[in-house]
Amino acid sequence: MPDALHFEVSRDDLRRTRWSVEPVPELTPGDAIVRIDRTALTANNISYAVSGDALSYWKFFPAEAGWGRVPAWGFGDVIRSSLDALAEGDRLYGYFPISTHLVLRPAAITPGGFVDGAAHRAALPGVYNQYRRVLADPGYDAASEDRQAVLQPLFMTGFLLADFLADEQFFASRRVVIASASSKTAVSLAFVLSRAGACEVIGLTSPRNTAFVEKLGCYDRVVPYQEIRSIAAADPVVFVDMANDGAVVGAVHRHFGERLTHSCVVGATHWESALRERDLPGPRPAFFFAPARIEKRTRDWGGRVLQERMARAWHDFVSDSQSWLEICEGRGRAAVERAWRETLEGRARPDQGYVLSLGD
Ligand SMILES: NC(=O)c1ccc[n+]([C@@H]2O[C@H](COP(=O)([O-])OP(=O)(O)OC[C@H]3O[C@@H](n4cnc5c(N)ncnc54)[C@H](OP(=O)(O)O)[C@@H]3O)[C@@H](O)[C@H]2O)c1
Repeated sequence: MPDALHFEVSRDDLRRTRWSVEPVPELTPGDAIVRIDRTALTANNISYAVSGDALSYWKFFPAEAGWGRVPAWGFGDVIRSSLDALAEGDRLYGYFPISTHLVLRPAAITPGGFVDGAAHRAALPGVYNQYRRVLADPGYDAASEDRQAVLQPLFMTGFLLADFLADEQFFASRRVVIASASSKTAVSLAFVLSRAGACEVIGLTSPRNTAFVEKLGCYDRVVPYQEIRSIAAADPVVFVDMANDGAVVGAVHRHFGERLTHSCVVGATHWESALRERDLPGPRPAFFFAPARIEKRTRDWGGRVLQERMARAWHDFVSDSQSWLEICEGRGRAAVERAWRETLEGRARPDQGYVLSLGD
């Protein structure tokens, strides 16, 4: 078998990357070896790296000290299996490193999939440890694999955020302001909110992305970051922040003050401009973590109902994405390095989504 290839980033300088090559381990009892076929890359993966220590993202796919294997959503095929319940050739959707191979320890195997029972993943959020067998997944469409890899985890977050806001009666407001409105997670949230029609959806974005966001049709209004003060401040409003840009968060809190009924931190696409200010007017920003919301809704509704509700909304979203998202396939080391650099530096285009492959 050819060696395994791993894309790694320096944990204290995300601009430094390297390739590590090592033999694919021998198959041991209880394990399966997956050949990773394709993984998506967006700002979400940059956030995994930025919070690799704080939120334990470096623990999923351990590397040599000082280096990290960035997790990414995608597809792979089982090429060796020591388990009767898992066939070689099974295609999986789940959480992978940007590598050619991954050794898994399948546990709780069902016709639909399994969890990786490896000891080093036991304490990590369950949603990241699940692998779905695509052929048993009623929502799977081979023709949409790339869209699934790029959009599905982000859409899930948007869906769960919309559910959270509705559950909280929009914190007694009828307006939601979303920062980094061009990000796929924000677009997902705006899409679900606009379909529900229960509130006004206002997007904040960079001047260069304003036209793209306006064309989407899921925001009632789009405002460049510099024009936050043009939004009427008299009525209550909820802020959902994907950017974590200190200047933007400060401007929003100062502009709305006590009219801000909830301030929700979801992401940090502007990862180098993080919020440092304390004692902002209005509510203290609260972190929204999708895996925790999945656990809550699984307890409330049961896993099947949650999956069914998400699947219905996902179906509309992925079909709508044909009109605004182009998949950019990258193959080989140079393509991975380029996609990492472009995404890290904020140069990736919002109307594109990278899907990377290290295959031959
Ligand atoms: N808390 C959770 O559970 C959870 C779950 C999923 C995702 N998220 C977070 O949601 C955020 C969005 O992820 P995504 O994958 O949807 O993003 P994406 O689609 O790749 O976002 C692209 C947009 O982000 C902004 N951007 C990206 N990099 C930038 C940079 N270096 N400097 C300035 N702006 C930059 C730009 O938007 P603008 O011009 O509009 O600012 C850009 O159009 C991430 O931070 C991710 O971690 C959180």
